[in-house]
Amino acid sequence: MRTLLTNQLLWTALMSPAQVKRTLAIQLALQLDTFDLVTDEHTHQFYPGINTATYGASAEYLGPTLLLDRGDTARIRIHNQLAQVTSMHWHGLHVPGEMDGGPQRIIEPGASWMAEFPVKNPAATYWYHPHPHELTAEQANFGIAGFIIVRDEAEAQLDLPRTYGVDDIPVVIQDRKFTANGNFSFYPFGDSVLVNGTPNAYLECPANVVRLRLLNGSNARVYALGFDDDRPFAVIGGDGGLLPSPASTDRLWLSNGERAEVLLDLSGMEGDSLLLMSYGNELPLTVPGSGNLVWESSALNGVAFPVLRIRVTATAPGGVTNIPETLIPPIIPEESASSRTRTKTLTGMGMVGMGMFMINGEMYDMDVVNDTMLLGSTETWHIVNNSNMAHPMHIHGVSFYILERNGQPPAAWDRGPKDVVLVDRFEDVKLIMRFTETTDGWPYMYHCHNLLHEDNMMMLQYIVLDPLATRMVDHDPAIDLTVSPNPTSGVIHLKSTGTMDALFVHDMCGRLCHHSALPPSNDTRIDLGHLPPGPYRLTVESDGNRTSRHVVID
Ligand code: C2O
Ligand code: CU
Ligand code: CU
Repeated sequence: MRTLLTNQLLWTALMSPAQVKRTLAIQLALQLDTFDLVTDEHTHQFYPGINTATYGASAEYLGPTLLLDRGDTARIRIHNQLAQVTSMHWHGLHVPGEMDGGPQRIIEPGASWMAEFPVKNPAATYWYHPHPHELTAEQANFGIAGFIIVRDEAEAQLDLPRTYGVDDIPVVIQDRKFTANGNFSFYPFGDSVLVNGTPNAYLECPANVVRLRLLNGSNARVYALGFDDDRPFAVIGGDGGLLPSPASTDRLWLSNGERAEVLLDLSGMEGDSLLLMSYGNELPLTVPGSGNLVWESSALNGVAFPVLRIRVTATAPGGVTNIPETLIPPIIPEESASSRTRTKTLTGMGMVGMGMFMINGEMYDMDVVNDTMLLGSTETWHIVNNSNMAHPMHIHGVSFYILERNGQPPAAWDRGPKDVVLVDRFEDVKLIMRFTETTDGWPYMYHCHNLLHEDNMMMLQYIVLDPLATRMVDHDPAIDLTVSPNPTSGVIHLKSTGTMDALFVHDMCGRLCHHSALPPSNDTRIDLGHLPPGPYRLTVESDGNRTSRHVVID
């Protein structure tokens, strides 16, 4: 009862007629051979007459929606006009490490960077945002982010709404805290809900089936989305592609960085209006956005609040009138194809913005590669949360599938390709993924997408090696060394034009994991079967000179 009352009061406060509702901003959608985005400082009036200092990507706040077609080459040039370094990441897209825009791929103030990559992902909703070391939260909070919509032939065959801004609507939900002078305060939670940068937003939709592309672009808040009349809606896709068939639900949690495509059937509703809500009162106390009193406070924590009002207009001729029964079945890797299981255990008791959370006891160090994967390999990961709160965990460079959540199959709407998964306290989420892109010196990140945790080093990085590319590292041109077989299951045959006297084996993090003297000879065999499977750098010393080869133990 108490909760109900609180909610009622809050609703009245936020949605009272005195508060002017504003038409939902729809960011410009661009389809270009080369996109040019300028990251810069701006001023924007979220509320009339009140200037707020912002950052944007070729806009006062947020940036344009980039339309990409699968199979094409994307070219996006970033011009950094900020007074600080930035970087730009294509969240969810499978691009080579060098194009991924992680914290290593810095764009200095005044400099530009051209990202060019083939568009390989299936049709779905992705997004871009800065990813500079320790500045991601700040730059995203100020407003740099935008949608990327990938289209493809398979999706185009389906009878789905796809008129951008009319029946196919981008919806990025962000909460922001404003200071008394109208500027943003940099804080985990905000008291104002912005949708596409619009406070108190309403949207006019035709009385047809409409598609909402939902994105949680907030720093820390998780949304428990649903409609005020608890009507069911159809989830058709998640982070990285469509589902095999629509999944009906009346609640959908959306954690930071996660996307969901939802169909809403408004047929026969002309003149009606409904409210998309977030039921923060339904979130467990371990989830940011709940009413956990120990955390930073916000008027929106632990209560139900409106996100977006939808007003239904006339039926649009030619609009979609039915929710399709089948969509596109994703190709989920077989568990039997998985060559390795890794467990990532989350620990730490820190509070938002103040504390330390760790992944396998480690925190981000740009100079350390935490994992090495083999190109083309499939792996099973367990993300086990032993910390005191939920974390939205994100992996770059892949889409993954949830096999199990605490031993149970995932909800129907969580069965598509994903790149963010919320892992609550004491949960064990089992994922499967296949590594299809190489990093070539530019590692991929995996991290908590609560931006305050991410910037507080709850992030590690991995590289993907092509096991067949046996490149030379140290090379004494006078010595020719052959290593066979490669890959090997243990015993390797070394042949050299010099007299070999010692062998060093390093893993891809540069750690020495084997060292032995060799009997002076130019032809010898050595058993490395005791080393865990993976790629290694093997260095042979002959008369004080060193020659290296990459070798894979499988
Ligand atoms: Cu959306 Cu590493 O980020
Ligand atoms: Cu990402
Ligand atoms: Cu976290």
